Amino acid sequence: MASDKVYIFDTTLRDGEQVPGCKLNTPEKVEIALKLEQLGVDIIEAGFPISSPGDFKSVEEICKAVNDPIVCGLSRAVMKDIEVAGDALKFAKRPRIHTGIGTSDSHVQYKLRTTREKIIERTVAAVKHAKRFVEDVEFYAEDAGRTDNEFLAKVCEAAIKAGATVLNIPDTTGYCLPEEYGAKIKYLKEHVKGIHKAIISTHCHNDLGLATANSIAGVSNGARQIECTINGIGERAGNTSLEEVVMIMKQHPRLNLDTGINTKMLKSLSSLVSDRMGMVVQANKAIVGENAFAHSSGIHQDGVIKKRETYEIMDPADVGVDKSSIVLTARSGRAALAFRCKEIGINLTKVELDKLYPEFLKMADTKKEIDDKDLMIICERMGLFVNAITL
Ligand code: KIV
Ligand code: ZN
Repeated sequence: MASDKVYIFDTTLRDGEQVPGCKLNTPEKVEIALKLEQLGVDIIEAGFPISSPGDFKSVEEICKAVNDPIVCGLSRAVMKDIEVAGDALKFAKRPRIHTGIGTSDSHVQYKLRTTREKIIERTVAAVKHAKRFVEDVEFYAEDAGRTDNEFLAKVCEAAIKAGATVLNIPDTTGYCLPEEYGAKIKYLKEHVKGIHKAIISTHCHNDLGLATANSIAGVSNGARQIECTINGIGERAGNTSLEEVVMIMKQHPRLNLDTGINTKMLKSLSSLVSDRMGMVVQANKAIVGENAFAHSSGIHQDGVIKKRETYEIMDPADVGVDKSSIVLTARSGRAALAFRCKEIGINLTKVELDKLYPEFLKMADTKKEIDDKDLMIICERMGLFVNAITL
């Protein structure tokens, strides 16, 4: 059976850029947008045009620069916001306005100080107004994660009737459990009249480390768009990480979902975003972290050297990482030592390896990691370098 397409909506340049200290200028945003286009994302959320003249300009320039992806501009359910977003998107080949309003009791009562009836009225007015500028209108129900499903369904129904093409169901505060979020999407699929006319989108924040799991629960229950960012950057603990959801769908064919993303670009795009934003990627970050394909304990190293798949569920080449690395530390075993010596041109005999190993451990206990230079030094000290070269 052919797999179902899941649209990848990248919001690195909007939600991602909300990270304190990560602001980008227009040329940097255009550079990243062009790479996102090559990566094969379906939608680029380029910014929040009314928020500043700089952001307006960036959205305009991104619209001019990219050809294939839809370019999306964010707005609140406020007429002026929508007009400015429409204006910023005027050069887009495929423009989309993303408009919406809070729907949880907390948003309705405290942030907006209004009523549920008024929220529905504002939903309809915002979507209808956005339709005057573009055909493609995405509606977000902010804090949908904490909104009761019955009311959320009413809001979604009203948005679709007004012309929304995509319904975004954000877990704005990252509160939902995966089964809860999945059940919410299922509920909407089953209870919203006209739901077949719109695509349901996930937009999950990572406050409890569940953004990726929640997004996957969403698509497993019928959502067909995931909103995500490179390296999972975004407000507070961040958004769903693009590289994680894409690789989950690739590595689990039984989900029968496909994104069409050029996964070989994931590592380089991660490095580009990290560099331009000045935001370090944690070493143990899934898929793109420095240690994602590094093995340092003796038991794992032995397994990987014999057969990579013993401890790796992905081929590093598939995400643009050259190869797995065998890191030498005081936890490494003989197999790893012999492997790394071979990599620097020293083929050890069993006797030589037995002689070298205790010396290696002595040095490894004094250092975090043994690099090639250290290795040469110990080998030379043991008189092994010359012997090995002449082997
Ligand atoms: O997290 C959120 O609810 C958002 C919306 C503005 C889409 O970012
Ligand atoms: Zn968000």
